[in-house]
Amino acid sequence: MIIHSKLPDVGTTVFTTMSLLAAQHNAVNLGQGFPDFNMSEELVELVNKAMKSGLNQYAPMAGLPLLRERLAEKVEKLYARKINPDTDITITPGGTYAIYTALTTILEPGDEVIVFEPAYDSYIPNIEVNGAIPVLIPLKFPDYSIPWDVVRKSITARTKMIMINSPHNPTGSVLSKNDIEQLRQIVARTNIFILSDEVYEHLIFDGLQHESLLRHADLLERTFVCFSFGKTYHSTGWKLGYCISSPELMKEFRKVHQYNCFSVHTPSQAALGEYITNSSAYLGLGPFVQKKRDYFQQLMADTLFKPLPSYGSYFQCYSYEGLSAESDKEFAIRLTKEYGVTTIPVSTFYKEGKDDKVIRFCFCKKEETLQRAVEKLRLFKV
Ligand SMILES: Cc1ncc(COP(=O)(O)O)c(C=O)c1O
Repeated sequence: MIIHSKLPDVGTTVFTTMSLLAAQHNAVNLGQGFPDFNMSEELVELVNKAMKSGLNQYAPMAGLPLLRERLAEKVEKLYARKINPDTDITITPGGTYAIYTALTTILEPGDEVIVFEPAYDSYIPNIEVNGAIPVLIPLKFPDYSIPWDVVRKSITARTKMIMINSPHNPTGSVLSKNDIEQLRQIVARTNIFILSDEVYEHLIFDGLQHESLLRHADLLERTFVCFSFGKTYHSTGWKLGYCISSPELMKEFRKVHQYNCFSVHTPSQAALGEYITNSSAYLGLGPFVQKKRDYFQQLMADTLFKPLPSYGSYFQCYSYEGLSAESDKEFAIRLTKEYGVTTIPVSTFYKEGKDDKVIRFCFCKKEETLQRAVEKLRLFKV
């Protein structure tokens, strides 16, 4: 058989590679982005209750009505945006799936999509599998802000979409009101769509406001906003999320979703529908995770690594400039093998491997895990 790969450049992800290496060397794994503590007992009980009460068959294609209604209430409360739960929200098996479905809904072969790098690893393959072309724009180093002048120059007649992500993985940068205004000016009077990856909406620190595109009715007409319950409820293994858009775009999104996964795990949706009314669970998340960032930064102050700012997400990047001439991949491998701490080299979030000598740490871990990691990193000498 002759197999023409649709994604010839894709191999094993860096997360798999580094996690395997961490296991081989018994290293503290601050690589992949997931909490190492358990999720809410109450939410687990609610799934149990839903299963026992017989909610074990297919959910409606768009998601359980109760969950969509409660999400609409939440969106109105948080972002002062009225959305229709029947037409504007679809529950998906994770945020990544929501992003893939939005791209597949819109993209045609030869379309260009503006992607800022470093970028979450699914974006580029998701664009390419649709026959579209990623137009890669590096964020400004070291604050990882968007170079809007470069974006303006990169727009062509084939630009179909711009993808944004705030709070940002892997850097922890966040978009400001001014960024949204720049975006608005660029897309005004064009047919350019927007994908806004807001899976870390609640993981924002230092009193900053999350600039959700849901705040902007004019932009929502052309935007898919993607979320993840996994990030909000410390349940990344549930792979549950949702997408919000205009009724016109959502109608097309559902055509793709309907024949891909059709519908999502019923008991978890029933449980989330009940649990979501507990607003302290998501409003307390930012401060809870900020404490972890602060604790980690405080411990790391005793090491040779230099912090870059992190205003949101699970992640904190550190520079090792001046400490080693190795590439960030070589450096991350050595940290795992010789010092027993696993991180992610940030060059892997660039298609061409731009290497600024930066490694990413996930600090959404138990205090003892962070302590164990930093005890080892304190031993690092040039
Ligand atoms: C930026 C970004 N988008 C989307 C996702 C995916 O979320 P999910 O696990 O719900 O697919 C992640 C998960 O790491 C992420 O970091």
